[in-house]
Amino acid sequence: MTWTRTFEELDTGLHHRESFDCGEAPLNEFIRIKAARHMKVGVSRTMVLPANEPRGDGKRPIAAFYTIAPSSVERERLPETMAKRLPRYPVPVFLIAQLAVDRKAHGHGLGKVTLVRALHHLWSINDHLRAFAVVVDCLTESARPFYAKYGFLDMGVRNGHLGMFIPMKQLAGLGV
Ligand SMILES: CC(C)(COP(=O)(O)OP(=O)(O)OC[C@H]1O[C@@H](n2cnc3c(N)ncnc32)[C@H](O)[C@@H]1OP(=O)(O)O)[C@@H](O)C(=O)NCCC(=O)NCCS
Repeated sequence: MTWTRTFEELDTGLHHRESFDCGEAPLNEFIRIKAARHMKVGVSRTMVLPANEPRGDGKRPIAAFYTIAPSSVERERLPETMAKRLPRYPVPVFLIAQLAVDRKAHGHGLGKVTLVRALHHLWSINDHLRAFAVVVDCLTESARPFYAKYGFLDMGVRNGHLGMFIPMKQLAGLGV
C-alpha cells in the first residue's frame, strides 16, 4: 500500500472504511461505523490519510487516521508539580481519541507521521482556544511504549484505558 501526502476529513463518499484493518477490532469498528456518526453529531473530527490506489468503486482505502476531540481531566490525575498550579475544576485538554495505521502499512513510519500530524493539528487549534495538554487513551498495553517514545506520560486508568498525556507547552519543543 502507498499513500497520499495529505490528511483529509473523513468522507464516506470518498474513503473506503470497511477495508481498514489495523489489527485492533475496536479501532476497526470505530473507523468503519462510528467515526462518521460522531462527526455528524459534532463530538469529534476524524482525519484520514487515503491510499494512492482507488478501489473499483472509486473510493480510496484508508492508510491511517486520527480522531480528535475536546476533553477535560481532573487536576488530581496530573503530577503534583503541575496540578498545584491548575484550577480545581476540570482542566481543558485535547484528546487524541483514536489513532491507527492499516496493518499493510505498519513499520514504515506512518504511525509517527500520523501522531505528528495530529499534534500539529491540535497545536494550531491551541492558537485559538487553549488547552493544558494532549491526552490519549491507550486501547492496548502495546500502544503505551509507542506514545511514551514521543514524550507522553502515564496518568493512570481513564475510561477503562491507560491514559497518557503530554503538556501542550512541550509540543513546541517537539517541533510540531
Ligand atoms: C501503534 C501504531 C499506530 C504504530 O504505527 P506504525 O506505522 O507501525 O509505527 P511507525 O512505523 O511510525 O513507528 C514509529 C516508531 O515507533 C516505534 N513503534 C511502533 N509501534 C510501537 C509499539 N507498539 N511500541 C513501541 N514502539 C513502537 C517504531 O519502532 C518506530 O521507532 P523508530 O522511529 O525508533 O524506528 C500501529 O501499530 C497501530 O495502528 N496499531 C494498532 C492500533 C493502536 O494500537 N493504536 C494506538 C492508539 S489506541
